Amino acid sequence: MWQMLLKITLLALALEQSSRCAAAATLGSPTSNARHFPNDFLWGVGSSSYQIEGGWNADDKGESIWDYMTHKNPEKIVDQSNGDITADSYHQWRRDVEMVRELHVTTYRFSLSWPRIMPGGYMNQVSTAGIKYYSNLIDELLKYNITPMVTIYHWELPQRLQELGGWTNPEIIPLFKDYARLVLEMYGDRVKLWTTINEPWHVCEHGYGVDYMAPSYNFPGIPAYLCGHNLLKAHAEVVHMYREHFQPRQAGRIGITLDTSWPEPRNPDSAEDREASDRAVQFYVGWFAHPIFSKHGNYPKIMIERIRNLSKQQGFGARSRLPEFTNEEIHRIRGTSDFFGINSYTSNLVTPNGHNNTGKFPVPSFNHDMGVVESQAGVDWPGSGSFWLKVYPKGMYNLLMWIHREYNGPEIIVTENGVSDRGGLEDYARVDYHNLYLSAVLDAIEDGANVSGYIAWSLMDSYEWKAGYTEKFGLYHVDFSAPNRTRTPKISARVFANICKTNAIDWSYRPALDEHQLVVAARLPALETEAAANAAATFSWSLALLLGVVLAWHS
Ligand code: BGC
Repeated sequence: MWQMLLKITLLALALEQSSRCAAAATLGSPTSNARHFPNDFLWGVGSSSYQIEGGWNADDKGESIWDYMTHKNPEKIVDQSNGDITADSYHQWRRDVEMVRELHVTTYRFSLSWPRIMPGGYMNQVSTAGIKYYSNLIDELLKYNITPMVTIYHWELPQRLQELGGWTNPEIIPLFKDYARLVLEMYGDRVKLWTTINEPWHVCEHGYGVDYMAPSYNFPGIPAYLCGHNLLKAHAEVVHMYREHFQPRQAGRIGITLDTSWPEPRNPDSAEDREASDRAVQFYVGWFAHPIFSKHGNYPKIMIERIRNLSKQQGFGARSRLPEFTNEEIHRIRGTSDFFGINSYTSNLVTPNGHNNTGKFPVPSFNHDMGVVESQAGVDWPGSGSFWLKVYPKGMYNLLMWIHREYNGPEIIVTENGVSDRGGLEDYARVDYHNLYLSAVLDAIEDGANVSGYIAWSLMDSYEWKAGYTEKFGLYHVDFSAPNRTRTPKISARVFANICKTNAIDWSYRPALDEHQLVVAARLPALETEAAANAAATFSWSLALLLGVVLAWHS
């Protein structure tokens, strides 16, 4: 026991030292028996169009729901900012590809902006400049043997379509199919890895159920389920179209990316908390995964029953707020993904929402339907630059194993995982985060989960939605005050590159800033560096404890 305590103290000192002085720490243990990822493991890095491109009205680009919301209601964004210019990838894309190469990844995951390609959302108007922009990017990636992994929809809906009700209007199904057809025709000869939609749960619940993401309807308990229903059908139609008309000659793969924070039972010994955890994962992941990946398709039974019963009690009559699929639709949606894409960053502790599901949620609402209270109160998990993101790698392991068991061992790609801070280049906290989460991924692989890839979020600092520019997820720092949005690798970029190159985690590799980085760091606004140093110092102590637990777990 005392040896373990000593180890933890040494770790804390080493981390403290490394985060403050950038000295190479000697963490020892976990490296000595370095475990390797499978030989053909997919290593990638990700971004999304609205977050990095800028050029919001360049050439003939149309308005997206994010352009509209950030211009009309800047007060909804923490720093009242928008993605008008952001990292300016619309012009800096060559440098982006250079960075992707420096990282030694094999794959770059990025998304297409629907209104950049079809300004009004309809096929009557196609932008040549928009088509060309992504075509150039794809060619540049292929020139260096980097596989483009393209997300067709990462939240950039043309505003005109929102005026028709967006994802709540079934008309979105043929419209999304038209848009997808065009991009498959344009890029499918060169793109072999596609996902239709990024994080349906966010699109639907955060977009329509609450006032969070664009279009921020704030209409709980009804439109999110209509959105989910249409979205699943639209996804399935695109996959069928790809399989029938494109896959035979283009030979690519297509899937979907879901997301969740892992719901850990608050008290693992409580049957009620364990049930709350099961229910939460069904509501967050199962809502979209069950129709696609389960043996019989359709929504999870628990969702169907709870929402039907609650709808009845609430006076909605015999029609559930959760729409029903016909048998034909169930059949058409089932099996429409060549892999299971999952984004996950953190975990929550969960417990049921009081007796008789009373408590703090609006009635009706998604949260009330789920009947689970989530919180991170009282946990000793290290924090980050985002209020919602605390470091608990075991949650990643639990999630991967859950998907593995629940859906009979599908191929899983971790399409997003990463951590935020408030700036600076000495992001040792991010290094530790990736090392720890990757270690959890390895544990899941060793325990049988078929995880074939890991895509770090994010390539560079970018527009972090509601948080504007206050939270940074990048492996590369972006100087948002420089006209060309200068990019500089952070420490984590070097470490992640080393992981991708060696296919293993080297816990002792914690390089110091090089000469170039030192010059850039010296010019960073004091606020950014101070915030980063403080965050790193706080992080390192709590992280040391966490590492101690990981070591104990492995020894
Ligand atoms: C989204 C990203 C976002 C990240 C961090 C994910 O939900 O797909 O666009 O930047 O989380 O918040």
